[in-house]
Amino acid sequence: MRRGKFITFEGIDGAGKSTHLAWLASFLRDKELEVIVTREPGGTALGEQLRQLLLDHRQAMHAETEALLMFAARREHLAKVILPALERGAWVISDRFTDASFAYQGGGRGVPAARLEILEQWVQERFFPDLTVYFDVPVTISRQRVQSARVADRFELEPDLFFERVRQAYLQRASQFPERIKVVDGSLPLAEVRTALAEAVEEFWSSHAPSR
Ligand code: TYD
Repeated sequence: MRRGKFITFEGIDGAGKSTHLAWLASFLRDKELEVIVTREPGGTALGEQLRQLLLDHRQAMHAETEALLMFAARREHLAKVILPALERGAWVISDRFTDASFAYQGGGRGVPAARLEILEQWVQERFFPDLTVYFDVPVTISRQRVQSARVADRFELEPDLFFERVRQAYLQRASQFPERIKVVDGSLPLAEVRTALAEAVEEFWSSHAPSR
């Protein structure tokens, strides 16, 4: 039984999703829901250790090893955090989920989508987010934001071309699942991005609010 809803945020590094995640959490908490905010890779003790390995720029790894570790962390995350929370009626917001694997490991690294679909099926069976918000920004803008932020991780060190492929893979995913994935233009000023996000969330809320 899955009573809560599962919402994920996606975008290339520097798309600004983290800023908006806090807003969504408080929007939902104002509706008196239990809200769990989590992230991938990570979200569990083991998952956070895998995250450290995955983001460490001194740790080179084969593209498929990277994909397998992402899904290993996801299996743990689903079993220990996401599914139990949804079962007890909480709403879960995750900073990234499986669309990131299709975008980064698929688009970015070139792991065939068919292989990722096998892992997705294995780890999730028929489980998918109820709503995904994809913050779309041109690579040049995202790069400027990331550079001014802090020390780059293993993904952020990749060249612009890598992020172009990641972005195209995200856009392709969005057109493949138009019902689930809402695209928000993340290059607009913050207030306008917030308005677009709020519209998507209100629309979702109007058809998914829990009955009391
Ligand atoms: P990110 O979510 O951007 O965190 P921060 O804001 O702290 O930098 O970092 C996670 C990185 O992991 C990001 O570069 C994308 C990458 N990633 C994948 O490559 N595949 C995945 O399946 C997931 C969940 C993340």
